[in-house]
Amino acid sequence: MTPPTPTLVTRRLVLSSPVMGDAPAFARWLGDFEVARMTAVIPHPYTLADAEAYIRGDPSRRVHNWTIRLDGEPIGVIGLVEKPPKLVFGYWLARPFWGRGLATEAGRAVLDHAFAALPFPEISACVFKDNPASLKVLEKLGFSDNFDCTGGSLARGEGQWPTWNVSLRRPTPPTP
Ligand SMILES: CC(C)(COP(=O)(O)OP(=O)(O)OC[C@H]1O[C@@H](n2cnc3c(N)ncnc32)[C@H](O)[C@@H]1OP(=O)(O)O)[C@@H](O)C(=O)NCCC(=O)NCCS
Repeated sequence: MTPPTPTLVTRRLVLSSPVMGDAPAFARWLGDFEVARMTAVIPHPYTLADAEAYIRGDPSRRVHNWTIRLDGEPIGVIGLVEKPPKLVFGYWLARPFWGRGLATEAGRAVLDHAFAALPFPEISACVFKDNPASLKVLEKLGFSDNFDCTGGSLARGEGQWPTWNVSLRRPTPPTP
């Protein structure tokens, strides 16, 4: 399910609940195999109907998703899936906007929100080992405790690919 999420504002970005009007941009940007192949759940090719179904949401999953907006335009998605006792973190950004620190900027806002507003002590993420840019984003955001795993990818097709699984624990407040 995609419940409305609070709007988060960063220096360059506005993160807000996905709306149906985002679907054409999602279909355009996620049609890029270089984006889809780094994710587990985005098929290739990716259609407008796929984007609309994603925005309608899956009632069997508790998720917190934001559209990443730059100058009002949808350029990516970032979100958290509830898998008690933890949250699972994921994101993608349209290729023309890579390399400007935007995923890290969006990630900081979402993680701060998650630890402030959601009752989960840990957030985990899974990154294919051939995706050093995403591992770097996660490391900049404080994720660690890498362990080897494997994962599937709808875009890549059948099979399991080597991944790093990383995690971040709720920061402990300083003792008075
Ligand atoms: C991963 C992704 C979100 C990164 O977005 P971004 O806005 O470019 O990320 P940032 O600019 O915040 O940080 C990227 C970091 O990776 C580094 N990087 C980029 N390519 C790299 C490479 N091939 N090897 C090592 N580091 C690399 C950048 O230099 C930067 O680090 P720096 O700030 O220390 O210079 C984007 O590439 C993407 O959407 N990829 C496809 C989908 C995806 O991978 N989703 C995540 C699945 S786990």
